[in-house]
Amino acid sequence: MDLFEAINKRKSCRSYTGQPFDQGRLDEFRKIIDCFKPLYPDVPLEYRFVTETEGLFKVEAPHYLIVSGQGKEGEPENAGFIGEQLILWFDRHDIGSVWLGKTRDVQRNRTGKDIITIAFGQPQGEVHRDESEFKRKSIDEITNAPDDPCVQAVRLAPSGMNLQPWYLEKADSKTLLYEQVLKPPVSLAYRKTAVDMGIALCHYALACRRFGKPFSFERQSGLGDKRGYRLFGALS
Ligand SMILES: Cc1cc2nc3c(=O)[nH]c(=O)nc-3n(C[C@H](O)[C@H](O)[C@H](O)COP(=O)(O)O)c2cc1C
Repeated sequence: MDLFEAINKRKSCRSYTGQPFDQGRLDEFRKIIDCFKPLYPDVPLEYRFVTETEGLFKVEAPHYLIVSGQGKEGEPENAGFIGEQLILWFDRHDIGSVWLGKTRDVQRNRTGKDIITIAFGQPQGEVHRDESEFKRKSIDEITNAPDDPCVQAVRLAPSGMNLQPWYLEKADSKTLLYEQVLKPPVSLAYRKTAVDMGIALCHYALACRRFGKPFSFERQSGLGDKRGYRLFGALS
């Protein structure tokens, strides 16, 4: 199944019928996750389905997927990269979903290594949308290579508070990926930009596959040259 097809149709779903999936279907979803390509194969993640969660900006849904790790570097962007493939897979199966940055498992089941939550279920209302309905920065605000179809796919990626904290700079044979440095009060309220970067990389990778280009990402860090941003990595 080509997940690329879902990129310009997906939308966050915040209204569900309440009809839960049976255990067989949840087992299917769990197996599907293992078929997705990770960003970093040596950074393992764990997944559990729960029905009870709590936290700010929570969306009521019949199911939540909690993604957790072991506290290793790279886990947030790996979670974004893999979780976004599930979100696009859900879209292709007319299942609604939404990332939740502040919603957590209930206290008694929580682990200190939980990274991010995805709510999902049968959608109430339309699950897809037209590309013209996306509310996004203009392409020139996120890149110096506006004609690159892989960058165009990043433009449609979801992000917490719709911040779209990425900038892709084409330089010689490489494309540098920058992460926006958030300022207070936003930086105090939102700390999941590394998950957003993984989501952006997922869209980039799917577009590379669609347009027959190799995808290779190397994590880098440092200030870089772009004001208001820090270097996140290099794509080649
Ligand atoms: C890491 C992350 C955390 C998010 N947290 C929440 C949240 O707590 N509550 C919510 O309603 N939406 C949340 N969202 C969904 C975004 O608000 C949404 O993706 C963005 O506004 C763009 O809209 P779209 O997904 O319909 O394209 C989150 C998205 C991401 C990627």
